[in-house]
Amino acid sequence: MNATTTQPHSASPSSTFATAPPMIKLTDIEKVYQTKTIETVALNRVNLSINKGEFVSVMGPSGCGKSTLLSIIGLLDEPTGGLLELDGRPVKSYSDKELAHLRNQKIGFVFQSYHLINDLSVLDNVELPLLYRAGVGGKERRQRAHAALDKVGLSARTTHFPSQLSGGQRQRVAIARALAGRPEIILADEPTGNLDSVMGEEIMDLLLTLNREEGTTIVMVTHDEHQALKTERLIRFFDGSQVQ
Ligand SMILES: Nc1ncnc2c1ncn2[C@@H]1O[C@H](COP(=O)(O)OP(=O)(O)O)[C@@H](O)[C@H]1O
Ligand SMILES: [Mg+2]
Repeated sequence: MNATTTQPHSASPSSTFATAPPMIKLTDIEKVYQTKTIETVALNRVNLSINKGEFVSVMGPSGCGKSTLLSIIGLLDEPTGGLLELDGRPVKSYSDKELAHLRNQKIGFVFQSYHLINDLSVLDNVELPLLYRAGVGGKERRQRAHAALDKVGLSARTTHFPSQLSGGQRQRVAIARALAGRPEIILADEPTGNLDSVMGEEIMDLLLTLNREEGTTIVMVTHDEHQALKTERLIRFFDGSQVQ
């Protein structure tokens, strides 16, 4: 599927929409996992363009390569073949320092199992990634964490610990933790997979609002067709390839 054909803004050729490169572009991306006994083709020549501000959902059966796709886009893993470009530049051309900056500042991850630290309060969990960011002092860290928690509707829970929260609230903390870093891209891997349908709906509404109001580009893996249909674009995977 070609992203430019599904862009909601029908931009004229001279506008920035038409000339800006896709934010994320995969060309013939391949990922082969090699162990002693078995070779697994997790991604098989995937071609995909995602524009700034899009909300894309990815569906497909277990093991078809969805998480692998997100870790490659999020620079947590490297493809074994093909070309990955971010903002029109091949990722291979970025220096290590630039890559660290991209990982740390441009991209936020949200996982199915929240990945919160149980011994830390809600506020400390949200502040934690900012500790590793140069130029963000203690006061600003705290302000950003409060603002992010406010955005996800958890201002009244800052001193709670994860064990004192519902699943939906824990996922909202995880989203606030991603938001505190002010990422341009959120990669969400089955963010509602552990939640009942009501809480799942709340998380979905939160992501939709973020996309609409802040223009955050979101790529979300989901098993829930109903949620996937709420996003601008639905991509289906099967056996490492895009089928729709
Ligand atoms: N680190 C790894 N080593 C070997 N094989 C892996 C590894 N990670 C994933 N795989 C394999 O790659 C395929 C795709 O995995 P994954 O991307 O996790 O699928 P999905 O998220 O769609 O369930 C699966 O067959 C899986 O077993
Ligand atoms: Mg997965």
